[in-house]
Amino acid sequence: MRRIVFLGPPGVGKGTQAARLAAELHVPHLSTGDLLRAAVAAQTPLGREADGHMRAGRLVPDALVLGILRERLAAPDARDGFLLDGYPRNLAQAEALAAITPVDAVLAFDLPREALVERLTGRRVCPTDQSVYHVAFHPPKVPGRCDRDGAELVQRPDDRPEAVGTRLAVYAEQTEPLLAHYRTNGLLRPIDARGSPDEVAARIRAALPGDARSGAATRSRPTAGTRRRGPGPSGG
Ligand code: AP5
Repeated sequence: MRRIVFLGPPGVGKGTQAARLAAELHVPHLSTGDLLRAAVAAQTPLGREADGHMRAGRLVPDALVLGILRERLAAPDARDGFLLDGYPRNLAQAEALAAITPVDAVLAFDLPREALVERLTGRRVCPTDQSVYHVAFHPPKVPGRCDRDGAELVQRPDDRPEAVGTRLAVYAEQTEPLLAHYRTNGLLRPIDARGSPDEVAARIRAALPGDARSGAATRSRPTAGTRRRGPGPSGG
């Protein structure tokens, strides 16, 4: 089975790596941040409630996130595995997840704070196809424009400096304790997130459980519905 959780602070590169690995493993990339942003964009009742929390850099209430996650995990494409990015983020969420499904590995990414801030504040996204860029590490061909559809790139509201500080503090207070939780039950696999995306991807492959590792080495067809990430920056 390939039921993998990506755990790590904001901006560490979870989404970038999750998109790549999900395509290699042929499992869906389930990002609670992406699901919530889609709900905000669609102005659903959930999205309207989540919006203020997200802009401020706070966690969205557990019950709301659990609802969308449960629904997504029940979809047929998640039956044979998934790559969960951004969930769980506190102990209550870890317990809720354990009640829904077992997981095979928790990959825990780490990066010094200055590098996190640099990756977050330089990130730009395409509002139409969600492609992710970085002003220095993965710039678009035409400054400020999406390579794929030419749309004007925007900064996520929670990547502004005032929200970044809150997000890092929330991570330290609520999410970091999960490292000890997953270390205790033997699932934790630490990943050094410094260096280029290719370097990080190589460390991920080396840390995967045996059956998933062989899948990553032999498969390369992209997975439908995967968040679009470019080839990636050369460092950071
Ligand atoms: P979410 O979208 O999950 O944000 P996050 O966890 O803070 O992670 P990010 O998306 O900011 O960063 P990332 O690690 O994916 O980095 P990326 O690959 O983009 O959540 C957003 C909000 O939603 C939360 O704050 C909360 O409000 C809510 N939420 C979500 N899940 C929730 C939950 N379970 N419970 C409650 N609330 C929840 O990379 C960042 C940048 O760096 C990019 O520009 C990229 O190009 C660049 N980059 C990537 N890799 C490298 C590299 N190796 N070198 C240089 N640059 C790199």
